Amino acid sequence: MSHDPYPTDEPAVVTCGLPYANGDLHIGHLRGYIGADAFTRALETLGQQTAYVSGSDMHGTPVAVNAESDGVDPEEFALRWHEQYRETFPRFNVEFDNYGHTHDETNTELTREIVRTLDEEGYVYEDEILVAYDPIADDYLPDRYVVGTCPYCGEKARGDECDEGCQRHLEPGEIEEPRSVRTDNPAEYRERTHKFFRVSEFAEYLTDFLDGLEGTSNARNQPRQWIEEGLQDWCLTRDMEWGIDYPGETDEDIVLYVWVDAPIEYIASTKQYAERVGSDEYDWERVWKEDGEIIHVIGRDIIQHHTIFWPAMLEAAGYNAPRAVAATGFITINGKGLSTSRNRAVWANEYLEEGFHPDLLRYYLTTTGGLQQDVDFSWDAFQEKVNGELVGTVGNFWYRSLLFAHRNFEGTPETDVSREVETRIEEAIVEVREAINDYSLRGVGQAATRLAQFGNEYIQRNEPWKLTDEDPDAAAQVIRDCVQLAKAVGVLLYPITPEKSQTLWEQIGEDGDVADVRIEAALDSPPRHFEEPGELFEKLDDDRVDELNDALRSRIDAAASDEPSPDETESDDTAADESETMAETDDLEPLADNRISFEDFQAVDIRVGRIEVAEGIDGADDLARLEVDIGFETRQVVAGIKRLHDLDELPGQRCVLLANMEPAELFGVESNGMVLAAGDDADLLTTHGDAQLGEKIR
Ligand code: 2FM
Ligand code: ZN
Repeated sequence: MSHDPYPTDEPAVVTCGLPYANGDLHIGHLRGYIGADAFTRALETLGQQTAYVSGSDMHGTPVAVNAESDGVDPEEFALRWHEQYRETFPRFNVEFDNYGHTHDETNTELTREIVRTLDEEGYVYEDEILVAYDPIADDYLPDRYVVGTCPYCGEKARGDECDEGCQRHLEPGEIEEPRSVRTDNPAEYRERTHKFFRVSEFAEYLTDFLDGLEGTSNARNQPRQWIEEGLQDWCLTRDMEWGIDYPGETDEDIVLYVWVDAPIEYIASTKQYAERVGSDEYDWERVWKEDGEIIHVIGRDIIQHHTIFWPAMLEAAGYNAPRAVAATGFITINGKGLSTSRNRAVWANEYLEEGFHPDLLRYYLTTTGGLQQDVDFSWDAFQEKVNGELVGTVGNFWYRSLLFAHRNFEGTPETDVSREVETRIEEAIVEVREAINDYSLRGVGQAATRLAQFGNEYIQRNEPWKLTDEDPDAAAQVIRDCVQLAKAVGVLLYPITPEKSQTLWEQIGEDGDVADVRIEAALDSPPRHFEEPGELFEKLDDDRVDELNDALRSRIDAAASDEPSPDETESDDTAADESETMAETDDLEPLADNRISFEDFQAVDIRVGRIEVAEGIDGADDLARLEVDIGFETRQVVAGIKRLHDLDELPGQRCVLLANMEPAELFGVESNGMVLAAGDDADLLTTHGDAQLGEKIR
């Protein structure tokens, strides 16, 4: 791995977390798969050789429990879902170079080989541990077969993860007050012999690894804390039949823990791809064993697996380390946690059946909020995004430019693009390059959309429709520029809206695929002639949105009426539970009774800012010195966020500043304003649109 800017000379692989083959795909899954697909395409536009791989996660209790409740053999059950996923992904323009599954031969063999290496290198030992056991069912209860209380935070948890609380991985035997999912009886603990991986020996290695890790800051910061608290060794085996046998073991009731063979599928899937295209075309060993770039896109609930267990396993087995882990936030639906059991979800098939184009959802999911932020989905917000940015800005610019060009010049006017427009496109290319290197898909989308916005202003400002008669050369120049801008927007937006960009590409008279060109093609002249264009985006009207809202509401209501009592309610697999996003109101400060007038509010001067510098203040445990650009000037502010945020991550972030706060001096540093933040964790307020720095907040 290198830390050179992309594109590097080494091949890259982008992976995304494997979906458990156990149920319908929903928008929460799609965020990751679309994001990783868009990132792969973006790297390729820079000229980075990249493979995009994943596969279905077939083993473990998430699959076994659901197969059992359907009365189906787990293999048959998981394969059925696997086939469905393979068919669904391309319908969202998610194009894997290889999509395998963890039960196939490549993964099974590779898993055994890697585990054998760990064993031979002395990283595995046996130990007697207590595991949950159901005396009524007369069976052991691995992972999701047992529920109870998290020993770390006291929340309700599953046997292997504190999914509703602190998100920690839980080792067998750790969960308190265990209950069997099979019979709903209290479980007891019994002694069993299991295999352990010496993760604790990797604390120093992992600390260095995290120091160099790229991606999102949550993927570096959370594991640092876990390392500081002390790493435990990791149990590699489980008492169950469904899974991959531990190599060389004869006990048929013990298999490898699903989290051992699942990430190995990243390697196995890359290997399958290389075997298909030939190692001259793509060398999987260079990626995984030498110096290639490994980029994992995951949900933030599985950071620990990807930044502790997995890199330790790779290191111990002699493999390359990941360069980046980009951990996405969760998806909420109408402001509440996505919940499959409550049917509060937008399902992949439902979206497609509604007839919406996949690129609309791709645009929504990649440009609403940064990668690590939770993103709320509502049909209203979807409508606003589609009608505002895709129809109003991008589509409108594409259509009006090409239509005008076709009608008046039968295509691209024969003149060179102006220096002004060429410079603006060059700037957008730089922005996109930087965004890709910052793992910011939102940045990619925004750079492209801003270019379309510039195009709209440019055409408006130059009014070519007035020039066609009085000054045809000037009209030709404006339209020549607009056609170039339209092409550039198409090329830059391609990673996010690949199909729409391809249609634009064809409308503009280009041959071949936009997928095959590099980002610099944004500056290449478009063909001289093209046909009359069609509109690429369609407005989503209010009635349709009302219907979608009604349908979602009645679905949730119907699920609620069949819902078991709260203690029986199962929590969701991949999505944020409500507890994540909706604070218990009991914990909140009561609302103030005293109302203020609008004039009082007007006296408060709150501005949009951007943090330029963030550094700790010596001698103060909690305080940080920030420099915040608020358009007119840069303010020095002292904020109590030193321990709550990774200060290195703050420069560049937009924030909200109370600008007419009286100056104060803290630890000898003058504070000239106050950065606004929510709650005890100082969740920093920001803006989500294009408000300028210094804009007043009203
Ligand atoms: O949490 C999950 O949904 C897992 N199936 C993800 C596995 S990702 C990887 F490591 F394999
Ligand atoms: Zn917990």
